[in-house]
Amino acid sequence: MKARLTIAMDGPAGSGKSTIAQRLAEELDYLYLNSGSMYRAMTLLSLRKGEDPTDVCTLTELAKRYRIDFSDNGKITLLNGEDVSDALRTPEIDRAITDIAKIPEVRHEMVKQQRRIGENGGIIVEGRDVTTVVFPDADLKFYISASVEERAKRRFTEQKAKGIETTLEQVEEEIRIRDEIDESREHSPLRTAEDAIVVDTTSMTIDEAVNFVLNRVEES
Ligand code: DC
Repeated sequence: MKARLTIAMDGPAGSGKSTIAQRLAEELDYLYLNSGSMYRAMTLLSLRKGEDPTDVCTLTELAKRYRIDFSDNGKITLLNGEDVSDALRTPEIDRAITDIAKIPEVRHEMVKQQRRIGENGGIIVEGRDVTTVVFPDADLKFYISASVEERAKRRFTEQKAKGIETTLEQVEEEIRIRDEIDESREHSPLRTAEDAIVVDTTSMTIDEAVNFVLNRVEES
């Protein structure tokens, strides 16, 4: 295995990619970058400022002015130095994020920041376009998937544990809508890179999925 690889991982919501990417980063002692947290931080900023998430000019300006960093190996997201980690995973942000994530100028700024963070390699980066647009020359690429039904079950269990009132049917419907938006977006849609290793985690435990990916990394 070559030292300090750039490993990119894309996949839909609930596929297990965040857990796999974090575990891999710990095992390899690599930097972990969750690119979705960047779009979430921008969405939080626009909600706080009361901006319209479809206002391209204002959102682009904000994306240029604000710097997003991570500490504690990706566990903490900093927006111009402020720790916003606990405010990023709310239904309000989930609703507004798709408008912001489809603005090409905002994506351009986020991609610049992701490349800055990953410029020295030794990084696991995950998202929707990191294998295709952000790091097209990554040393290793993975596309992590799972059936809609399985992903809905995982999300439902997570949300129940957090005390969020919902039903399995509702979660499954939300996942189908989110997939459709992510895959049909005009700019940087979610798709499987030609040179990505596809990992279907539907009938895998997290440990099995982590080991599978880790073996591919060690073989590389
Ligand atoms: O990975 P996540 O669920 O936290 O991502 C939240 C949203 O951000 C998701 O709906 C798609 C968007 N996103 C994106 O457009 N590009 C990325 N590289 C990562 C996330």
